[in-house]
Amino acid sequence: MELDFSRPLYVLAPLAGYTDLPFRALVKRFGADLTVSEMVSANALIHGSEKSFKMVRKAPEESPYFVQIAGSDPESVGRAVEILNGMEGIDGIDLNCGCPVPKVVKQGAGSALLKDLDRLEAIVKEIRKRSKKRYTSVKIRLGFETNRVVEIVKRIEGAGAHFVTIHGRTRAQGFKGEVDYQAIREAREAVSIPVIANGDIDSYEKARWVLEEITPYGVMIGRGAIGRPWIFHQLKESQGEIGTPLKLEIVLEHLNQMVHFYGDHGAILFRKHLHTYSKGYPGAIEFRKRINRITDPEEMGEAIRDFFKGVP
Ligand SMILES: Cc1cc2nc3c(=O)[nH]c(=O)nc-3n(C[C@H](O)[C@H](O)[C@H](O)COP(=O)(O)O)c2cc1C
Repeated sequence: MELDFSRPLYVLAPLAGYTDLPFRALVKRFGADLTVSEMVSANALIHGSEKSFKMVRKAPEESPYFVQIAGSDPESVGRAVEILNGMEGIDGIDLNCGCPVPKVVKQGAGSALLKDLDRLEAIVKEIRKRSKKRYTSVKIRLGFETNRVVEIVKRIEGAGAHFVTIHGRTRAQGFKGEVDYQAIREAREAVSIPVIANGDIDSYEKARWVLEEITPYGVMIGRGAIGRPWIFHQLKESQGEIGTPLKLEIVLEHLNQMVHFYGDHGAILFRKHLHTYSKGYPGAIEFRKRINRITDPEEMGEAIRDFFKGVP
């Protein structure tokens, strides 16, 4: 499916451990224009890891849909791309150049690629050469230690990527330092491919400001969507908070989808989502203690109903 860059794209960020098929399907219902899989390792795909294949499966409503690959060399990423070529419904391959986790960086993948632009360029070229999917995109940070984003995006454009998403922090800043939106703007002005902005965008006003002042092409939302899968509707339509009955319905639907996708283990995996869904409500601490002991999906559903019943 074609992406329409004449209007801003509202994209769900890849979030390892969160943006699995059930979550992406839910977010899609609330208006996300593009969903991206969690990061999958090129090597894991090559070795036929069942877990990785499950991670790249998409829900029927996810169209357009991208798979994000992490890898450190053109050959292994290229082989992973060929495996994905055999799967239908994937519209693009995104290369992870932002992951700050030491284990990933040590292997030369994720944000380590921001230090080795020859390698980064070679990987993007390899994806373009071997991918049968419509799009190749790259997700980056501003740099590894310092901001080198203009140089980085120019190399990515030169290698043939169709667009780039920029998380406006360096690797050194982790997830907490201040996002440098002006740096994203400079990068957008330096290239002619679309640039999507990412980092701490979690309200209608912020999204509007970024789209007006920084880049018109789109915004990517990560943590703002955890515990708030309806955020895309709020960002697009300037809607306020949703009421408790609807929230309860969405949370139960999410639990159902988790159990459908993962079996009973889905209830345990759902605990971390419940931690965020319950944040800020009276009794949330007790509720978390309770659900951390629950393994049975039915019982989990009851605990959820009990909790939200008491919420004004
Ligand atoms: C728990 C978690 C998991 C993440 N997993 C990925 C990932 O798999 N791939 C990726 O490119 N970025 C990943 N990120 C980074 C986000 O996609 C995003 O760039 C970052 O959180 C900033 O955006 P936000 O402020 O909207 O969350 C992850 C972030 C968090 C907090």
